Amino acid sequence: MSIALVILAAGKGTRMNSDLPKVLHPIAYAPMLEHAMAAGRALEPERTIIVAGHGAEAVREAVAGLDETAEVVLQEEQLGTAHAVDQARAALEGFAGDVIVLYGDTPFVSAGTLERMVDARQRADLVILGFQAADPGRYGRLVMDGDSLERIVEFKDASEAERAITFCNSGLMAGKASVVFDLIAKVGNENASGEYYLTDLVELARHEDFKVTAVYCDEAETLGVNSRAELAQADALFQARARAELMELGVTLMVPETVYLAFDTVIGRDTVIEPNVVFGPGVTVESGALIRSFSYMEGCHISRGAQVGPFARLRPGAELAENTRIGNFVEIKNSEIAEGAKVNHLSYIGDAFVGEAANIGAGTITCNYDGVLKHRTEIGARAFIGSNTMLVAPVRVGSESMTASGTVVTKNVEDGDLAIGRAGQTNKPGHARKLMDMLRAKKARLKKGTK
Ligand code: UD1
Ligand code: MG
Repeated sequence: MSIALVILAAGKGTRMNSDLPKVLHPIAYAPMLEHAMAAGRALEPERTIIVAGHGAEAVREAVAGLDETAEVVLQEEQLGTAHAVDQARAALEGFAGDVIVLYGDTPFVSAGTLERMVDARQRADLVILGFQAADPGRYGRLVMDGDSLERIVEFKDASEAERAITFCNSGLMAGKASVVFDLIAKVGNENASGEYYLTDLVELARHEDFKVTAVYCDEAETLGVNSRAELAQADALFQARARAELMELGVTLMVPETVYLAFDTVIGRDTVIEPNVVFGPGVTVESGALIRSFSYMEGCHISRGAQVGPFARLRPGAELAENTRIGNFVEIKNSEIAEGAKVNHLSYIGDAFVGEAANIGAGTITCNYDGVLKHRTEIGARAFIGSNTMLVAPVRVGSESMTASGTVVTKNVEDGDLAIGRAGQTNKPGHARKLMDMLRAKKARLKKGTK
């Protein structure tokens, strides 16, 4: 059965108090909308339709960057969840498969739960995703008739007896497209909110003898985000799960709650992560690496046996080969560090290639930017770059070459050569002692004068 996802994302999100549309607020560096889309993607949908309203332009732009097959439709006025789904009607004209309604602000529904909804659709025309709520609050209540779902009543419209029900509506729904759109056309707005409720589909479906059923999931999967505080809670939940998964896969997190992971972080077995490490988006670490405290990484790849930090910053395009060493206060950007090379202290390496087993001395800087353009630095295998070397790019330093400390390299250095580019040194015998005596005498005279 082919599937169309309809993801509702038009709501204002007033309580976020933000210029950014709610669904674009990030959890683990990915917009919450992307988390919902990722769960849906597991069903291999033929179509993905996002219903945008508030901040629709920003949503459209973000969606284009996330999934080029997804389509964005506009809900100009937010007249309710049924009205929102109805905005996908034209786009899905003639679509004969199933529609699955997701919420852009409910990021944690699992692929497995969605698959169970799809399975249940084989036995019923309409499937509602419900959950047993610890605190049912203002959720819509599932009114059951034995095993089958009779109707959903919104909190505002519910009687005392109905409010006592703890089975709640997650808002997610699966149904045959033609049934869903036929029934939506019949939904009215005579209720406490004056909105077109998607939940009314249940009762309408029963009147027409369609089969309606509910599938249940863990409450944590239905967690919605309405405020910054809930965003932080959602992020914390994501982090807790992601850390647990990594540990399950054989990664050591010395103090798990201090490691921040991105939605796409990949870490191999027997890698050890010290406390207080941040993984930005796009980081992959192979097995047996060591990431030491206070390191910050994004868009980089760290190979087997490499060591990073403490206090290292790896920026996009940093590619560390096996057994490399990146030490404290080192920044690497768009550079390949070949096997066994070391950049141990206080360096900036940008737009560079550092050859196998090369040693980069403390304070080395690749001067890669001339104010307008970026330039490359090439450092050969087993080169020894002396401390405080400035490599003014574009420049190449050959293999097994050396640079003397403090050298400003502006010309290429051939393989095996030594470059020295600094002011020559002269020593003046006894001058230091003489100078000190003079200065101390001056200080004494000044002190007397002020008394
Ligand atoms: C909805 C359900 C309720 C359920 C709850 C779960 C209805 C009538 N009620 O209530 O049974 O327990 O979700 O969280 O469906 N949206 C639009 N356009 C609109 C209205 C809403 O895109 O015109 C989007 C919102 O951005 C949000 C989602 O639909 O992502 C749900 O809307 P919301 O207003 O939060 O519905 P609830 O009142 O919470
Ligand atoms: Mg809500």
